[in-house]
Amino acid sequence: MSKITIAIDGFSSTGKSTVARQLANALEYIYVDSGAMYRAVTLYAIRNKLYDEKDPGLQRLVAQLPEIHLSFVFDPRLGYSEILMNGENVDKEIRRMEVSDRVSQVAVIREIREKLVDIQRDIGKDKGIVMDGRDIGTVVFPDAELKIFITASPDVRARRRYEELLGRGEKVNYEEVLRNIRERDYIDSHREFSPLKKAEDAVEIDNSELDIGEQFDKVLRLAKETIEQSL
Ligand code: CDP
Repeated sequence: MSKITIAIDGFSSTGKSTVARQLANALEYIYVDSGAMYRAVTLYAIRNKLYDEKDPGLQRLVAQLPEIHLSFVFDPRLGYSEILMNGENVDKEIRRMEVSDRVSQVAVIREIREKLVDIQRDIGKDKGIVMDGRDIGTVVFPDAELKIFITASPDVRARRRYEELLGRGEKVNYEEVLRNIRERDYIDSHREFSPLKKAEDAVEIDNSELDIGEQFDKVLRLAKETIEQSL
């Protein structure tokens, strides 16, 4: 069976990762969470105190990029891969609000994007991959056979993310989560390099009214049709 590349982009907390993971499992493809890579670089900057008001371009972080090694390790118990930063599993820590609050500032920096896009293209070079993010269908894999763009209203997304964070034991309030989502939507869509936008040939899905099962059925159907057409 021929393998294709599936790019899933969209706004924060639209459930992209959930559907991307389900799809990768059903098709026996590799799943890559590109947002986890931007989050891991952000965590590195936080831990190493590289934020400085006098250095908005984060040049000290850029200078240390060669020291940051990212990889993924598949956990058969979970059924998906988790991210390692310099050999340490940081998959839980990168989901914290402290990282969410900073990640979009890190993701505007061209040198950081170039490094991560190179890694992403390398992981996807043999196809058979589902990758989710903001620029996968536009920049990372512009030739992907299937591109999906997921949206949902900010309130629905904030509610989902709020419940997810509570479930992880993090103390957050709903307003703070909503503010973070709106802020990231704005920065991600207006940045100079690789802004978040729907690729012209992407299929748009608004999942405000869809549950996880309905969304998965829809996306799996699209994937199967695309694979058949590419035979
Ligand atoms: O899970 P959530 O939707 O909150 O975000 P994420 O996929 O973990 O991505 C976190 C942040 O990384 C985004 O808000 C973007 O600023 C950045 N990002 C990006 O610029 N390009 C990507 N391909 C993926 C993420």
